Amino acid sequence: MSDLKITNLYKSYGKVEVLKDINLDIKSGEFIVFVGPSGCGKSTLLRTISGLETITSGSLEIGGRVVNDVAPSKRGIAMVFQSYALYPHMTVFDNMAYSLKLLRTPKDEMRKKVEEAADMLQLRPYLDRLPKALSGGQRQRVAIGRAIVRNPQVFLFDEPLSNLDAALRVATRMEIAKLNETLPDTTMIYVTHDQVEAMTLADRIVVLKDGVVMQVGTPMELYDNPQSLFVAGFIGSPKMNFLTGKHAEKYKCHTVGVRPEHMTIQAKANGGWSGKVIYSENLGSDSFIYVDIGEEEPVIVRQDGKATYHAGDDIAFGPEGDLFHRFDAEGRPMTDGFAAPAKPGASSTAATSKRRAASPANPATEGTPDGGVVGSAGGVAMPAKKPAAKKPAARSTASKAASTRSTTRKAPARKSPAKPKA
Ligand SMILES: Nc1ncnc2c1ncn2[C@@H]1O[C@H](COP(=O)(O)OP(=O)(O)OP(=O)(O)O)[C@@H](O)[C@H]1O
Ligand SMILES: [Mg+2]
Repeated sequence: MSDLKITNLYKSYGKVEVLKDINLDIKSGEFIVFVGPSGCGKSTLLRTISGLETITSGSLEIGGRVVNDVAPSKRGIAMVFQSYALYPHMTVFDNMAYSLKLLRTPKDEMRKKVEEAADMLQLRPYLDRLPKALSGGQRQRVAIGRAIVRNPQVFLFDEPLSNLDAALRVATRMEIAKLNETLPDTTMIYVTHDQVEAMTLADRIVVLKDGVVMQVGTPMELYDNPQSLFVAGFIGSPKMNFLTGKHAEKYKCHTVGVRPEHMTIQAKANGGWSGKVIYSENLGSDSFIYVDIGEEEPVIVRQDGKATYHAGDDIAFGPEGDLFHRFDAEGRPMTDGFAAPAKPGASSTAATSKRRAASPANPATEGTPDGGVVGSAGGVAMPAKKPAAKKPAARSTASKAASTRSTTRKAPARKSPAKPKA
């Protein structure tokens, strides 16, 4: 069993409180991703789980056993860091076998374990090479393999892909996703700054801010039902637009949030927001138009393909159907039964319904009485391999409770290898 239970956990360095009252229930085999701004405590939380840092107060249980005072090597945990730090004079095989050698594992058994791990990570052809003859992605896979051979109950990853270039990141991310399928009983906790990694790998994402857990939920729960302005702005890339003052008046709230992918361009007469294009980014598949409407930050409007807008153009836009979020002055989502204002145009409403019906990744298909956002899978790559097992609750206090529950595990793609004794 590799369940993790963290209860009222605090961590301080001297007078500085870095982690504050962390409570998390992580089910055996779950893939959990920690995200949050730099310095919010992600690595510290990972290191307290590993035992590299002591816990100031509270408790940490692994497999039903309190491990606060258990040595790191006895916790059944393996950690993979951003810097893979392989031994340069040892072959891939020897790097991976090193911890088993220290444990005086018989040679046959050691070879079997290393080869099994090498197969999982597609490293078999490289076992005799030195690290200098590998690409960055291959080296990071060796570091992961070195951890796998120890057969951990819990894998901890601290930004393992952040040293890799874009293409290698994608390839190695896929290896990690496969690894998660191959080891269905191994719990994985993964720290990243990368939105796509978080959205595609996680069963559940934990959003941290200043050492406090802001929200826990499946990627789609966080995307569809952020429980605070902070989470709304943190999940999604480019981030959600926030409009205040007169721009939010029609929505009877302090701040109205609309994701760039939920903005539609419309005729000025339709009563949307309007402003001047500052510049437009054409990415081929998408284009992002930055518009000054007098808010502190420009509003970003996503369009398909190559946009034909240029700096200085006047444009008007508004949310597609009811795809917007309302927040009060404290940044809490509003649930006061607000009805969406008149739709900007019949065509955009039709497009919304069509997209909802066509979106299998979207667990929410109903409108909410408060006009809250209900499901669009646009903007970020969504996990095709594991749709959210639980339909997110409607935007109410119930949704927060729902988002702290675990998701159902997917079926293993392959049988887990036999667990050796650590
Ligand atoms: N040994 C230490 N002594 C004092 N303060 C520390 C120590 N280690 C970390 N901190 C502080 O704890 C806070 C959390 O650090 P942590 O490394 O967990 O952040 P993080 O979320 O992983 O950030 P990043 O995304 O930049 O890696 C930071 O303010 C950091 O300065
Ligand atoms: Mg860190």
